[in-house]
Amino acid sequence: MMLRNQLTTTLLILSSFLLINQSVLCTENTSRHSLAPLDGYLKEARQQDVASWITGIRRELHQYPELMYEEVQTSALIRKTLDSLGIKYKYPLGKTGVAATLGTANGPHVALRADMDALPIAEAVESEFKSKNEGKMHACGHDGHTSMLLGAARMLKAREKELKGKVTLVFQPAEEGGAGARLMMDEGLFADDKPDFVFGLHVDPSLETGRVSLTPGTVLASSGAFIAKISASGSHAAFPHLTADTIVTASAVVGSLQTLIARKLDPLEAGVVSVTMIHGGTALNVLPPEVEIGGTFRSLTMEGHHKLQQWIEHTITQQAAVHGCNSSVDFLEDRHPSYPPTVNDAAATAYARSILEQVVGAENALPGTPWMGAEDFGFFTQRFPSCFFMLGVKKPGTDSAAKLHTGTFGLDEDALPIGAALHTALAEQYLKSETERRTSDKREEL
Ligand SMILES: *[C@@H]1O[C@H](CO)[C@@H](O)[C@H](O)[C@H]1NC(C)=O
Ligand SMILES: *[C@@H]1O[C@H](CO)[C@@H](O)[C@H](O)[C@H]1NC(C)=O
Repeated sequence: MMLRNQLTTTLLILSSFLLINQSVLCTENTSRHSLAPLDGYLKEARQQDVASWITGIRRELHQYPELMYEEVQTSALIRKTLDSLGIKYKYPLGKTGVAATLGTANGPHVALRADMDALPIAEAVESEFKSKNEGKMHACGHDGHTSMLLGAARMLKAREKELKGKVTLVFQPAEEGGAGARLMMDEGLFADDKPDFVFGLHVDPSLETGRVSLTPGTVLASSGAFIAKISASGSHAAFPHLTADTIVTASAVVGSLQTLIARKLDPLEAGVVSVTMIHGGTALNVLPPEVEIGGTFRSLTMEGHHKLQQWIEHTITQQAAVHGCNSSVDFLEDRHPSYPPTVNDAAATAYARSILEQVVGAENALPGTPWMGAEDFGFFTQRFPSCFFMLGVKKPGTDSAAKLHTGTFGLDEDALPIGAALHTALAEQYLKSETERRTSDKREEL
C-alpha cells in the first residue's frame, strides 16, 4: 500500500513535470510559429490558376451588378461556385444571402464576411467587363469582396482536412443601406453556433495594393436618415400674411440643424448632421403648402446616435412651431435602417494585426483612423468580437482619383489574391492557434 502510494506520487510528479514541459514546448512552438512569415498564403493565392480564377469571378460579377436585395444572379453565381468546390451552404438567409461552412463542427469557429450588392450609379469607364446593367455599378468594390471570399473558399477547401474547427463564409445582401447583415442574423445565421471572431475587409482606393490598414476600437460611424415635412395652408406669394411660410421655416430648420454639431455636441465627440435634400415649391408666385427636407446623421457611439436623433426631431418640430407650421419627422427605419458604429474588438484586432503583418509584412500593415462612413458590418461587431480592416487597391504609381461610390471607381485586380490570402490565413491560423490554446488550457486543468 505504502509502496504503491509512493509510486503513484512519483508517477504523478513525473507526469506533471512532463505535462508542464510539454506545455512549455507547445507555447514555444506556437510563438515560434506566429513569428514565422505567412507569405505562403500569398504565394498560393498568386499562383496563375488561382489568381485568374478569382479575377474571372470578379469580372463576371462586375458586369452584372445588382442592387440591394436583388442580388439574384450574384447569389446564384456564388452558390454555383460553392457547388463546384463541394462546399455546403445555407440559402436563402436574408432573401439572397448565402452562408457556407467548412471544416469540423467541434472546435473553434471563425466567420469571414463579404457583401454582394451594387449601387445605382452609371459606370463611366470603358472596359471589356464594364457593367451591362444600365445605371448600376459595383462602385463600392463588393464584386472584389465577394470574389476574394470565394478565393478563400477555394484555398480553405484545399486544406479542409487540416482545419481545426469551423469556418463560416458569409455572403450578405444589401450592405448599401438595407441592413442585410442584420436580416441574415435575424433569420438564423449564427443562431445555433456563435462565431468566436468575425472578420471583414473593405477595398480602399487611397491605399496602395499590398498594404492594409487596421484601426482598433471604433473604426466607422453609425448612420441614420431622416425626412421632415413642413406644412402650412399655402398662399399667393403677394399675401405672405395669409399663411405660415414653409420655405422660410425650412430655411430656419436647416440653419438650426447646423448648430447641433457646432454648439450642442461636446466638441470632443464626433458627429455629423447633413441636410442633403430640400424639395418645395413649383411656381414663382406661390408660397408652397409643403416643403420636405431630408438628410443623414452620424456618430461614433450608439449613445451619440440616439442623442442626435432626439435633437434633430426636437429642432425640426420646435422650429416649425415657432414659425406657425405643422411638421412631421420620419427616421425611415423600414426603408433606411440605421446602422450601429463598427467597433473593432481589441482581441480580434490584435489577432488580425499579427496575421496581416505576417502575410503582407509589418511595414505594409498601417494604422488606420476612424472615419464617419458607416457599414452594415457594425451589426456583426455589435454581437460578436469582430474586426473590419481596409485593403489597398490603388495600383502603385497611380493617383487615387477613383473614389468609392463614383462612376469612375476601379480597383487594382492584383489586390484580389491578397484579400483571398488574408481571409484564408485569418481563418486557418485562428483555428490552429485557438485549438492549441484550448488543448494547453486543458492540460493545465489536469
Ligand atoms: C515542437 O516542434 C518540434 C519541431 O518542429 C516538434 O518535434 C515537437 O513535437 C513540437 N512540440 C509540440 C509540443 O508540439
Ligand atoms: C396643422 O394641422 C392641424 C390638424 O390637421 C390643422 O388644423 C391646422 O390648420 C394645421 N396648421 C397649419 C399651419 O397648416
